[in-house]
Amino acid sequence: DRATGQPTDLQDHPRDSVFLRACRRESVPHTPVWFMRQAGRSLPEYRKVRQGIAMLDSCMRPDLVTEITLQPVRRHGVDAAIYFSDIVVPLKAIGIDLDIKPGVGPVVETPVRSRADLERLRPLEPGDVDYVTEAVRLLTRELGGTPLIGFAGAPFTLASYLVEGGPSRNHEHTKAMMYGDPELWAALLDRLADITAVFLKVQIEAGVSAVQLFDSWAGALAPADYRRSVLPASAKVFEAVAGYGVPRIHFGVGTGELLGAMGEAGADVVGADWRVPLDEAARRIGAGKAVQGNLDPAVLFAPREAVEVQARRVLDAAHGLDGHIFNLGHGVLPETDPDALTRLVDYVHEQTAAG
Ligand code: CP3
Repeated sequence: DRATGQPTDLQDHPRDSVFLRACRRESVPHTPVWFMRQAGRSLPEYRKVRQGIAMLDSCMRPDLVTEITLQPVRRHGVDAAIYFSDIVVPLKAIGIDLDIKPGVGPVVETPVRSRADLERLRPLEPGDVDYVTEAVRLLTRELGGTPLIGFAGAPFTLASYLVEGGPSRNHEHTKAMMYGDPELWAALLDRLADITAVFLKVQIEAGVSAVQLFDSWAGALAPADYRRSVLPASAKVFEAVAGYGVPRIHFGVGTGELLGAMGEAGADVVGADWRVPLDEAARRIGAGKAVQGNLDPAVLFAPREAVEVQARRVLDAAHGLDGHIFNLGHGVLPETDPDALTRLVDYVHEQTAAG
C-alpha cells in the first residue's frame, strides 16, 4: 500500500515479488521498477529529516536509515527498496579517516598509496556494523512483501576513492598503482574484496533480498585491464555470497565494453547505463542473466511526454528479454522533480501490465 508502506497482505513474501521474479528471469505481471539513488536529495521529506545531520552520521542511525529507505517506497510505489547507506560506510567502519562532503563526495584524509598505507585497511568484522544489522531488521519488518536491496562498492571503485583521496575524473593515481605496482594493486583489491564480502554478508544475513555491487567507475578501464586487474577481485566478492541464493546485481557507468566481463564476474543481473540500448546490452551480457536499466536520468528534466517517449524506447529494446528490471542508467539527479519519478513508475507498470 503506497500510503502507509505496509504490506496489503500479510502473506506477502519478498521471494514472490515482481522484482525477485524478474531477477530470476521468471514471468512477471509487469516490469518491476526501482531507481538508483531513489532515496536522497530529490525528496523534500529526505532533506527535512537530514537537516543538521551529517551524511555518514545518518548512515549509522537505524531509525533514520529506516525512514529514509522507506520514503521513496511510500511516495513512488517502486518495486524494491534500496538500503540507505553509502559505499564508503565499511571503510569508515574499519577506521579510515574519511568524510562525505556535500556536493563533492567521499574525501579520504590520507590517501592509500604505499604498502605501509595498506596496513590501515584491516578486515571488517560484522560487529563493526551492528547498526546495519539493526536497520535491515527494522526495514524488512516494515517492508513486508517489498524486497530490500543491499549494496556495496566494488573493489575498483572503492580503491579509486582511497588512492585518489576523493572523487576523480581521470583516476590517475589509481591507474599509476595498477600499472606501476601490480603486486600492491592486487593486494589492495584483495583486501577490499574481503571487506566488501563481509559487508554484503552482514546485510544478507540480516535479511536483504538481493545485493548490488556498484563498480561505478569501472568504465574508466579498457577491457583487457578490467579483466586482468579488477575482475578477479569482484569475482571474489560474488563468489563469497553465491551460497545464499540471493540475486547478485553488478552495475557500472560507461561500461558498454565491459558488460560481458561484468556478467562473468558472477552476477545474476547486470545493469547498463543509457549509452547502450538494452537489447544490445543483453546480447553483450550473454544468456542466463537478467538486465537492469537504462533510462538516462537527465531525461526526467524533459516534459512528461518526452519522458514517456524515452521510457517507451527502453521498454521496446527490452521487449522479449526474459528478466528486465527497469531503472535509470545511473542515480537520480538531486534536482529531479519527484513527481516525474512517480509518473515514470506508473507509466512502466501500465505499459507492461499483462492481459
Ligand atoms: O537510494 C539509494 O540508491 C541508496 C543510497 C546510496 C547513496 N550512495 C546515498 C548517498 C547509494 C546506493 C550510494 C552509493 C554510492 N556512493 C556510489 C555508487 C552509486 C553511484 O552513484 O555511482 C558512489 C560512487 C558513492 C560515492 C558518493 N557518495 C558520491 C559520489 C556522493 C555524492 C556527493 C554529492 O553531494 O553530490 C555521495 C554522497 C551521498 N550518498 C548522498 C546520498 C544521498 C548525498 C549526501 C547528502 O544527501 O548530503
